[in-house]
Amino acid sequence: MSINRARLDRFISETCQINRKKVRLLLAQKRVTVDGVIATDIALPIYKFSVISLDNKVLQQHQALYVMLHKPIGVVCATKDDKHRTVIDLLGELLSAEEKASLHIVGRLDLNTSGLVLLTNDSRWSEKLTSPKSKVAKHYLVTLQNPLTQEYIAAFSAGMYFAYENITTLPVVLTITSQYQAEVVLTEGRYHQIKRMFGRFNNPVIALHRTSIGKYVLEESLNLGESKLINVSI
Ligand code: URA
Repeated sequence: MSINRARLDRFISETCQINRKKVRLLLAQKRVTVDGVIATDIALPIYKFSVISLDNKVLQQHQALYVMLHKPIGVVCATKDDKHRTVIDLLGELLSAEEKASLHIVGRLDLNTSGLVLLTNDSRWSEKLTSPKSKVAKHYLVTLQNPLTQEYIAAFSAGMYFAYENITTLPVVLTITSQYQAEVVLTEGRYHQIKRMFGRFNNPVIALHRTSIGKYVLEESLNLGESKLINVSI
């Protein structure tokens, strides 16, 4: 059974092919542990990464995987693609084929955007990072074709109306770092958001690079195309 959240009795019943009455007996006999602790509550919530054992035999043990990747331009944020190399292709020997197949991407980047991409098989973690409610800050470095002016700062902060989605963007912090470069902080992820926002000033983005997602900062030691497993706090 693949679970995000389930009840302990249901999990044991389905995994061991026994009825719920027998499961209750096993629990009463203290033969089941969840994450190393004896479990007696039939309704105990269990998750994909709970380690569940019966008579010291492991019934479920999935490893949570968290990957940091430095995405180059020209690599697509998808798990499969007919035309381009994908972020999964870049993982090389880091993980087994089965582990790679379990991953999903935590906030995509466009084909021609570089920088930090996170991947995981832990949807509870990725949902926290991507949920609109969490308003997790994502930092980008942007290079523009035309010079920036102070007007941009107010316009980004006020939000822009996108007719296609019928939404107004949340306030965006824009810091001008040089005539053609800025740092932009988004707390949501609308389709091509940064390019569209600069598009309002008819100012094409010529380079876009993500440096962080929340507290996860692209490590300087990771060259373009390189990846590593990271530890996270939930
Ligand atoms: N905004 C964009 O336009 N592209 C990205 O990849 C991310 C944010």
